[in-house]
Amino acid sequence: MDRNTTERKSAWWYGRIAYQIYLKSFSDSNGDGIGDLRGVISRLDYLKDLGVDILWLSPCYPSPWADHGYDISDYYDIDPRYGTLSDMDELIAEAGKRGMRILLDLVANHCSDEHAWFRKACMDPEGRCGRYFYIEDIAPSGKLPCNHRSVFGGSVWEPLPGHPDKVYLHTFHKKQPDLNWENPEVRENIYRNAAWWLDRGIAGFRIDAVTYIKKELPFADEPADREDGLCYLGRSAESVEGLGVFLREMRDCVFVPAQAFTIGEVFNDQENELPLMIGEDGYFSSMFDFSHITFGMKRLGWYSWDRITTEDYKQCVMDAQRRAGKRRYLSNVIENHDRPRAANRYLPPEGRTEAGKKCLALAYFMLRGIPFIYQGQEIGMENYPFRSAAEFDDVTAIDEYRVSLAAGLGEDQALEISAGLSRDNARTPVQWDETENAGFTTGMPWLPVNPGYTRINVREQEERPDSLLNFYRAMASLRKEPKYFGTFAWGDFEPAWEDRGSLLAYHRKGERHLLVLANLKPEEESVLLPFRCQVLLNTAEGCRMENGRLFLAGWQGIVLELL
Ligand code: GLC
Ligand code: CA
Repeated sequence: MDRNTTERKSAWWYGRIAYQIYLKSFSDSNGDGIGDLRGVISRLDYLKDLGVDILWLSPCYPSPWADHGYDISDYYDIDPRYGTLSDMDELIAEAGKRGMRILLDLVANHCSDEHAWFRKACMDPEGRCGRYFYIEDIAPSGKLPCNHRSVFGGSVWEPLPGHPDKVYLHTFHKKQPDLNWENPEVRENIYRNAAWWLDRGIAGFRIDAVTYIKKELPFADEPADREDGLCYLGRSAESVEGLGVFLREMRDCVFVPAQAFTIGEVFNDQENELPLMIGEDGYFSSMFDFSHITFGMKRLGWYSWDRITTEDYKQCVMDAQRRAGKRRYLSNVIENHDRPRAANRYLPPEGRTEAGKKCLALAYFMLRGIPFIYQGQEIGMENYPFRSAAEFDDVTAIDEYRVSLAAGLGEDQALEISAGLSRDNARTPVQWDETENAGFTTGMPWLPVNPGYTRINVREQEERPDSLLNFYRAMASLRKEPKYFGTFAWGDFEPAWEDRGSLLAYHRKGERHLLVLANLKPEEESVLLPFRCQVLLNTAEGCRMENGRLFLAGWQGIVLELL
């Protein structure tokens, strides 16, 4: 083992288990219907029991909540609805006592239009703060600087308040003006803020929308890809050069000195960039594997996307693991606050049972990298049963519903599509018990609780030994058993029986030789296994072995040690 590898393996975050908290919907301590920091503190023992080492909190800073906190109006404080800075200090300390570390969300592609910088920019677009943003003149013909479509729909350009002849750029919501990273003063401000939080005792950051911070300049039109005359803006992120210059600088100025753990929200990564993103000396410690999340996406809108089958899912994961190889460390997810619930996205209706959910959980949890659990995933929360588009809170679902109708779909079909992918699905309150509002709040929840809470909730599953929750606990403890820790943390990944459709199987090879098999389909499956082996974990009770052949029932998953 070379010196470099030895050093990397000593980094504390190898082999850890992470959990994402979407603060607003996690746990409400004061009955205002909004989750908060004290709510998180009150659930730390639950998270510890689950086996969590790293907690990532979605943005908790003051914000007008046009995008639920991803629009920050003050980078140096906590939103009063979430608590105070001293609550945050207490959370860091209480998590620390339990051996858990906190990651915050670093949102630096844009701020809120209510941030002092933007207010000043509106007052004096030519002044110092004006140069913090991308502010352009509208041509005398009325033409905008380019025809890019914002991620949440409509043009990326919005008239600058008080200046009818000028527009500003927003990649996301119009209340999220993009910060101009070409301006060194902007970068200094961001780095100073990140260092300030690290000094307070957090372990690092999840870095939001990071592939968008570098723009292709000058802005220019591209061929329209929809009837709105606009064009998908991700393309420039896919081809722009120079992103790495910013990321390297941020790493060297902020992350390296603080030995921070960092994880990039990297979409649209360019093929040759992966080694730079998370290779040795990568810009980040890790990045999410989104290959299956982006599977089937098409330019025309949600209505044009392909559905993902369990076979497609498997192929995405296999390819991503292969691409990452031995030297890069991915973070593996099946859910986050921007996606539907995994049971609905990855499992066919007949597999949407506790058995199916366990099998899917096992399939991703034992991969090489850091498994992230999204709140509620550990109890198998499902999509919200929307009955009308008026129930959507998510700006993207509202936009995509409109896009589907404009493309000629009927109302029912448009509803089905936008309800299936709405970000609201992941954002309904966590289902803690079967009391009113699922034990999330004593008040009126900011987003309705999924009516499924009487069937799916933490309290019921805590008490039932064969529940999904207890299966997650068992997976976490297996990964942490000293005997297997090293193999799960650093062991090689090797696909097995890759040609077998929905059988997702792989070896993990290190000091021990482990084999993970997940039969992601209703039919029985069998493999020839002429080895002596021991069952370490099983989603079902028992398994049949006959003449060196292992039989897996439909939706059965198993971890074996080959002896
Ligand atoms: C990221 C976040 C998403 C947010 C967007 C803009 O993709 O995960 O929730 O809307 O960035 O900040
Ligand atoms: Ca509250």
